[in-house]
Amino acid sequence: MRPPSGTSPASVVEVRLDQDSWQEHLAEATAAGLAATQPWIPPVWFYDEAGSVLFDRITELPEYYLTRAERAILAARSDEIAHLTSATTLAELGSGTSEKTRLLLDALDRCGTLRRVVPFDVSEAVLRQSVGSISEQYPHVSVNAVVGDFHEHLAPLPTDGPCLLAFLGSTIGNLTPSERQGFLGNVIEVLGPDDWFLLGTDLLKDRDRLTAAYDDARGVTAAFNLNALRVLNRELSADFDPTEWRHRAVFDEEHGRIEMHLVPNVDVNVRLRAIDLSRTFTAGEWIRTEISTKFSADAVADELADAGLDPVAAWTDDNGDFLLTLAQPRGTSAN
Ligand code: SAH
Ligand code: AVI
Repeated sequence: MRPPSGTSPASVVEVRLDQDSWQEHLAEATAAGLAATQPWIPPVWFYDEAGSVLFDRITELPEYYLTRAERAILAARSDEIAHLTSATTLAELGSGTSEKTRLLLDALDRCGTLRRVVPFDVSEAVLRQSVGSISEQYPHVSVNAVVGDFHEHLAPLPTDGPCLLAFLGSTIGNLTPSERQGFLGNVIEVLGPDDWFLLGTDLLKDRDRLTAAYDDARGVTAAFNLNALRVLNRELSADFDPTEWRHRAVFDEEHGRIEMHLVPNVDVNVRLRAIDLSRTFTAGEWIRTEISTKFSADAVADELADAGLDPVAAWTDDNGDFLLTLAQPRGTSAN
């Protein structure tokens, strides 16, 4: 429903992330990760302002098919999704710029149901930019943005009637199996019987295409990966010299996932003053900075079903590269 002429619905940014406890949480996770036998760091360090810009450049690379494939599915299926869901709220987790999401917003708008958009992201700068552009493009719709961690701050979703909760881009693939289980458990808790979950997942495919997507010829993914060291230098008073490290992407066949690593070119001593940690990295050691799981369609359906979410429809792009699944909480009218 459109507001009376002359008035505009509210645009609100709710900050659920307490900066101090978030910094503490990340510091603890990083300390544990870097002290581990196989060192790792939380992938959330990627998404400072510079990292978010680099991620946007990744989505346009010829090798990085994920975004184009998911956009093609959304272009073909958004009207169907709008009719199936009649959603009045579109909430999106890890929304970033919400660029592809415009296809869903347009379809819900054509359907005449859209009243509210809830972009949800840990990166406040990117979120504020996307609130500005969504409000400008959809002036008749309320924007209730949430700055939060989707592992911790999902509830309550500021909904207004049936909600379509979208988690696009295969960001779920960046979670470990136990994180995915915990995350989907939180999703089912937050959804009401008239709500829907829309999940984008990258599908297993040829190893060479997968590794190329994470090690592009222009070096944008390398810059994205190495930027995490600059973030650690700034946020945890570390002394990484990014020129001493190189990017690597490997496909781990056993776990069906790409791993991004940072590998030292020489023996390196690093100190992270804020967490009182020093560590030496010698030849043959590396830091795992991200996992990006690749799924089979059956595995996606099983993980959703295990969480109490029943798939209602699933679509791929013409190449069969990417999968978009629409699910509903079990026990609701459609299942
Ligand atoms: N959905 C967009 C962006 C994907 S990039 C797309 O499909 O292209 C991943 C996004 O998730 C980034 O914007 C990042 O800031 C956000 N993100 C990563 N970890 C998060 C977390 N724990 N909680 C909330 N947002 C997170
Ligand atoms: C956000 N996420 C789904 C991306 C991915 O493909 O795993 C992040 C990324 N890492 C390297 N390139 C893109």
